[in-house]
Amino acid sequence: LFAGEAGFVWAASKADNLPPMKGVEIAFAGRSNVGKSSLVNALTGRKTLARTSHTPGRTQELNFFDLGEALRIVDMPGYGYAAAAKEKVASWTRLIKAYLRGRANLARVYVLIDSRHGLKPNDLEVLDLLDVSAVSYQVVLTKGDEPKAADLDRRIAETQAALAKRPAAFPIIRPTSSRTGEGVSELRSDIARLLAE
Ligand code: GTP
Ligand code: MG
Repeated sequence: LFAGEAGFVWAASKADNLPPMKGVEIAFAGRSNVGKSSLVNALTGRKTLARTSHTPGRTQELNFFDLGEALRIVDMPGYGYAAAAKEKVASWTRLIKAYLRGRANLARVYVLIDSRHGLKPNDLEVLDLLDVSAVSYQVVLTKGDEPKAADLDRRIAETQAALAKRPAAFPIIRPTSSRTGEGVSELRSDIARLLAE
């Protein structure tokens, strides 16, 4: 699944500019700078497929990448970026909401949470939206190379507890690091299993 060619197919900055649906889509969502684009690159083994940056707000459109014929990966703009212009935040939020609510071939959303910071109020809003829209989602902890092992374990347990009563949450939380590759193959297996369902 991840061995094939990965290629950029589409960038959408407005909800009425989404590409026609093809195959199964999975999307990567999360706060600005959490490591979405980096994880897309780690998963596909292509260092420069999705554009990454030290500066939050790098990804400003929904970017669609095909992995072979069956799977399409969507790198989403980050939310919760305080320094962005108000009207920009509003238009991203509209785009993200319209996409997450109305995409029939969206099999799962990977909600990325910085393992140093845990779930924040705007993350919980996104989880609420996914639960209400009955869109399956899985929480992935990013930058797992940063915290001490004991802190990471505590973060996993705390996140697990926070998800327990959420109807659309997939029960397995994946700690990952795009830097070290930790958890990336496990996440690939989760995705492969999802596609086999
Ligand atoms: P936006 O597109 O702005 O929403 O950001 P993003 O979520 O796509 O984050 P991006 O992948 O661009 O990474 C943001 C910053 O985090 C960059 O400086 C990355 O080098 C860093 N980063 C990403 N993954 C990791 C990781 O696994 N470990 C560490 N330590 N840093 C990481
Ligand atoms: Mg990005």
